[in-house]
Amino acid sequence: MSEFEKKIIELKERIINCENLSELNKISSEIFSKNGIINTEFKKLGSLSTDERKNFAASINSSKKELSELFAKKSNDVLDKEIIERVNKEKIDVTLPEKEFKIGKVHPVSQVIDEISCIFSEIGFSVEEGPDVENEYNNFTALNTPENHPAKDMHDTFYLDQEMKTLLRTHTSPVQVRTMLKGKPPFKIIAPGRTYRSDSDQTHTPMFHQLEGLHIDKDINMGHLKGCLNYFIKEFFEVEKIKMRFRPSHFPFTEPSAEVDIGYRIENNKIIIGEGDKWLEILGCGMVHPNVLKNCKVDPNKFQGFAFGIGIDRLAMLKYGINDLRSFFECDYRWLNHYGFDPLDVPTNYRGLSR
Ligand code: PHE
Repeated sequence: MSEFEKKIIELKERIINCENLSELNKISSEIFSKNGIINTEFKKLGSLSTDERKNFAASINSSKKELSELFAKKSNDVLDKEIIERVNKEKIDVTLPEKEFKIGKVHPVSQVIDEISCIFSEIGFSVEEGPDVENEYNNFTALNTPENHPAKDMHDTFYLDQEMKTLLRTHTSPVQVRTMLKGKPPFKIIAPGRTYRSDSDQTHTPMFHQLEGLHIDKDINMGHLKGCLNYFIKEFFEVEKIKMRFRPSHFPFTEPSAEVDIGYRIENNKIIIGEGDKWLEILGCGMVHPNVLKNCKVDPNKFQGFAFGIGIDRLAMLKYGINDLRSFFECDYRWLNHYGFDPLDVPTNYRGLSR
């Protein structure tokens, strides 16, 4: 029996006997990571003859498959077990009277939405809202999104019917359409809210928050967009100077389109915003496409303007030093007690937003 085969047997035993997720993750990285046993074994292929290679690769692949199946099953079991243990340990009887009076806290995302609304209201933006359940027209078609655009795929969008006509909005941009269709220009609005995409890992959750901005008037140009966003970022992070760059990008509903990054650096494990040589993407923006204006009954020969979409959760993480996006939505009272805000401490520009 080769060393590799011995190691595989040992790893299988370890997976079978493993009882907690962190140990399981350790085993997984010993197997599947870049320097894990599978990749290390594959590297040996280079020194073999063509004939030998075939069998050798096949045997690694079959071990890999066997281990991944075992691993997937075990992680499900361990996860189920941990959830049940946690639910039992943290069980509370909500029918019992409260022994001490505790004041609730405002969630960091709500706080940040209040802060952002406050900053934009200072320069004349009003707040609009739209529903989470949207139709395909507002979410895609009116926004000039072609029929075959990848964002429309079932894998990315949560559709609510077979015909793919109603869906959970994938961005706050449909509020642009709703706002323009129900009024007359000029428009100067922001629209915060929940958005949904079929995506889940450490930096993505299926539900997340965005804030849309729309300013349509006569003679609005890219300079106004830059000035507006620069003002916003400085106010939001409460800094004097901010390093920020516009990168050319593409969105079907804006032309030209850009993504905005802000500069940051890490010092003593803390993130310092506005300076340094690292870049972090925080929003998408651009000049509203004439087709979108036409779809919304606005004459593109008379009116033009800009739009932007900001990822709110990401801004909250940055400003308040929260590392894991998923913790935002776990509804853990202890977490909220730590990161939440005093309900009476409403953010205002003159008092300082976060104090
Ligand atoms: N809706 C875009 C997104 O979700 C962001 C965006 C909004 C870009 C407005 C340009 C203009 O990624």
